[in-house]
Amino acid sequence: MKLFIDSADIGEIREAAGWGILEGCTTNPSLVRKTGRSFRDCVTDILAVVDGPVSVEAVSPDAEGMVREGEDWAKLDPEKVTVKIPMGLEGLKAIRALAERNIKTNCTLVFSPTQAMLACRAGASFISPFVGRLDDIGHDGMELVADAVEFIDGYGLETEVIAASLRHPLHVIEAARAGAHISTIPFKVLKMMAVHPLTEAGIRKFNEDFAQIPAAGRQ
Ligand code: E4P
Repeated sequence: MKLFIDSADIGEIREAAGWGILEGCTTNPSLVRKTGRSFRDCVTDILAVVDGPVSVEAVSPDAEGMVREGEDWAKLDPEKVTVKIPMGLEGLKAIRALAERNIKTNCTLVFSPTQAMLACRAGASFISPFVGRLDDIGHDGMELVADAVEFIDGYGLETEVIAASLRHPLHVIEAARAGAHISTIPFKVLKMMAVHPLTEAGIRKFNEDFAQIPAAGRQ
């Protein structure tokens, strides 16, 4: 399973990229808003740092507008730019039209297996089931990830499933168990994934013991 960062904060993205684990990035208008920067500035900086697909949200209400936005974003980097298209009938039309133009898409706000099926058939490069938001309303979000993966693998489709709206490290483990191709993870959760109290205690003890070795013997 590949690891993407779910952020528009270039500081966070740069730091995570420095750890050597990042293979892509997803953004959305809410994440961009938090940065206080312009959409275009955020996306341009992210494209310069992330070596992999970068999802950028289309916000037009109709397919025509989404396609126009997609074509415009793709000019920045035709390889990396992935146009995030909200699930819906206009969204499906836009996904098909962008696929025909060889522009990658990530169908976002996917909350049911039927939505996942339609997005795959329309030609989405990625689909993003929102696990945390389903869990929030008492549905098992990870079940949707597993269903989508089974459907895609069973029919030999090329769409990749991005487990999205992940809230804690356990979500990431469960996404891997469910066969998600990718998890997109907030910076805070990525950092939590690296931490374990036994690792901290182990380092402390090794450092203490190292300091007790006579100076001449520390080489
Ligand atoms: C995914 O692409 C979305 O940006 C994101 O995962 C949404 O997460 P949220 O439900 O925490 O807002």
